[in-house]
Amino acid sequence: MADPLESQITPPDVYLNRRNFIRGGIVAATAAGTALAYRKFNGVDPVSSEQPPIPGVQKPAAGQGFTVAGEELTPRDSIANYNNFYEFTTDKDGVAAAAKDFKTAGWKITVDGLCAKPRVFDLDDLRKVAPPEERIYRMRCVEAWSMVIPWVGFSLGKLLAKVEPTSAAKFVAMETLFDPTRMPNQSSGALEWPYVEGLRIDEAMHPLAILATGLYGNELPPQDGAPVRLVTPWKYGFKGIKSIVKISLVATRPPTSWNKRAPDEYGFYGNVNPHHDHPRWSQATERRIGETARRPTLMFNGYADQVASLYTGMDLDVDF
Ligand code: MTE
Repeated sequence: MADPLESQITPPDVYLNRRNFIRGGIVAATAAGTALAYRKFNGVDPVSSEQPPIPGVQKPAAGQGFTVAGEELTPRDSIANYNNFYEFTTDKDGVAAAAKDFKTAGWKITVDGLCAKPRVFDLDDLRKVAPPEERIYRMRCVEAWSMVIPWVGFSLGKLLAKVEPTSAAKFVAMETLFDPTRMPNQSSGALEWPYVEGLRIDEAMHPLAILATGLYGNELPPQDGAPVRLVTPWKYGFKGIKSIVKISLVATRPPTSWNKRAPDEYGFYGNVNPHHDHPRWSQATERRIGETARRPTLMFNGYADQVASLYTGMDLDVDF
């Protein structure tokens, strides 16, 4: 089977390239509106997926690298209409429509494993873990496109602290909901289900690693991983597991979905690294959704100052 990730490298750069459209005079609209207008023009109906606002969102403390400065935010329409979420469809344009009726009422996340106080959290419990913060992060997909996304969330480490990991906990394993009645493409063999991901415990405790519950100040739309997904901005997007139902503290490195699928192509770490090419394409540059020219990809996606010390002494060509 052809790798769906590879086969979809080019299209986003073409149809979400709003500056090109403006230059070409196809539509005269705001930059944010143009991607939508273009999609309409090309017969793809964008899905409106407005969500309720999240009250009390705080700006993060300055100086911690929690906010990308000087880079344009990717419009919400692009973030919400161009997705990877194989549980619904492998067609990036189609995720918003396929996921639009996904209901998250009654959602629960089990946090268990090597910890003193394993516990099941509902969404109210999650809200009490820490106040919601805005985190404006770069997001670099392994397919070589990127966005800048204003997430709302809180540090994963704050949730883990609630269950008191034991010293035997070396890794954190995470799992997406498995329910083919609600996630119809789980009836296909697009991936092995449920989608699983994992981090080393020190990566999981790093303040940049967040559980996101919203974007642009509102709750997450289903296609972006409602009601809660992982965001690790120094890693490729595939590490950002969506619609999480289980987080387990474990002693050994847990299996991860894309690594299981193609271990030579997608490592456990998934750290953004312009010097380590994907076997089938270069990772040296990327296309920011909405821009024409490619831009250089930054080591650890621009977060090296904060995270490089996590990998001291490792061979990043081996542990990629
Ligand atoms: N999580 C689940 N459960 N299923 C998926 O297919 N795709 C991953 C990641 N998380 C995926 C997932 C990939 S490959 C990427 S690039 C990001 O989600 C995309 O997130 P976005 O659609 O919000 O931009």
